[in-house]
Amino acid sequence: MTDRKATLSVGDKSIELPVYSGTVGPDVIDVRGLVKQGIFTYDPGFVSTAACESAITYIDGENGVLLHRGYPIEQLAEHSDYLEVCYLLLKGELPTDAENTLFHDTIKNHTMLHDQMRNFFQGFRRDAHPMAIMCGVVGALSAFYHDQMDVTNEHQRDITAHRLIAKMPTIAAWCYKYSIGQPFIYPRNNLSYSENFLQMMFGVPCEEFKPNPILAKAMDKIFILHADHEQNASTSTVRLAGSTGANPYACIASGIAALWGPAHGGANEAVLDMLAEIGDESNIDKFIAKAKDKDDPFRLMGFGHRVYKNFDPRAKVMAETAHEVLSELGLEDDPLLKIAQRLEQIALEDEYFVERKLYPNVDFYSGLILKAIGIPTSMFTVVFAMSRTIGWFAHWNEMVSGDYRIGRPRQLYTGSPARDYPKE
Ligand code: SDX
Repeated sequence: MTDRKATLSVGDKSIELPVYSGTVGPDVIDVRGLVKQGIFTYDPGFVSTAACESAITYIDGENGVLLHRGYPIEQLAEHSDYLEVCYLLLKGELPTDAENTLFHDTIKNHTMLHDQMRNFFQGFRRDAHPMAIMCGVVGALSAFYHDQMDVTNEHQRDITAHRLIAKMPTIAAWCYKYSIGQPFIYPRNNLSYSENFLQMMFGVPCEEFKPNPILAKAMDKIFILHADHEQNASTSTVRLAGSTGANPYACIASGIAALWGPAHGGANEAVLDMLAEIGDESNIDKFIAKAKDKDDPFRLMGFGHRVYKNFDPRAKVMAETAHEVLSELGLEDDPLLKIAQRLEQIALEDEYFVERKLYPNVDFYSGLILKAIGIPTSMFTVVFAMSRTIGWFAHWNEMVSGDYRIGRPRQLYTGSPARDYPKE
């Protein structure tokens, strides 16, 4: 532990609190002892609160650094694939060739859903938002695996990880197929993870689907870039749900619900909606003025980040991938891309954005890639959720396999003092 102390003086009290250092990053002050002194800390939005200890991912927002188990995201995007990154996030080390082959094969053998799960989709209206369907179907997975949800059993946690990683693409693609009234397409085990997702999304029973390798590689990069991101809102939701002992499927469903918000994972869908609303480069200045206007709730979707006060390293890789995909599909002159490039240029030069360090984030370019591939905007956050499932699970697994307590934040109460019920 530590012999370093911080001293807090409150009124006539002087309170000594332990200070801990991590491998890298800011030191933390252990404030757990404050409750005995009758004092709480106050940090709505957890802007400067470390809610846990973790060894999975590290972000240096000032320098635009993102490490997964120590490996820079740029190197993983360049040299790895999504399933190898899943193994790394889960186990803490890159797999040997034999471990990697076994992991890939294991995932392939869990891609199908219990056939009764088809009925869950039928209960939704055809125009239901795919995130609503995904939330419901993933939570319902727990109804099919009662006998393997002992959170204290490492083997059962492993099999649950395999099932979730393997089944999310099938569930996601079926959400899409259901919404367009096309038959569900089953996974094909002779395809890679990303190729399989694309064939379940765009394949039809009447002809063989031939995946485009450039688009499959772009999908795999999108999966890698969205895999994990420290204690973001949805991951913190999964940890809090898991701290009650809830089963992993229910916890992942809670993460999907939190990710849906436009300030978080819903931003990629919101970026495309915003670009479409801007419509033409001649309208950009009007929207920039709205984004700066304190009285206008409009924000520039895809810009800004709670932690990154520099370029989001994922956005850089995403921008390169966007150009690869758009040129492969002959869409370099896509009007939305032109608007996006102009917005980025303004945000990098305009005092309002520069002063607040509002750089493009991971969502700014991902939507352009997904749209070019043919994925509808309503499915963008579903793709994000598919990818982030491994991050959510890795954090849940890290917590339940160690010492943990039920999460129970306190509050600053500003309501009415005690008063009696008025007697007639
Ligand atoms: C993700 O946490 C994660 O890691 C999330 C994520 C992940 O991988 O899990 O990275 C994924 O959620 C990326 C973010 C996607 N969201 C968006 O693109 C939505 C647009 N961005 C904003 O909503 C906002 O930037 C947040 C929510 C991302 C961050 O909000 P903060 O940290 O609470 O920032 P803030 O509201 O304190 O803003 C600081 C200032 C404010 O102005 P002032 O009061 O100082 O004058 O910047 C302004 C804000 O008004 N501001 C923006 C803006 N974002 C912040 N102004 C215009 N447009 C924006 N996008």
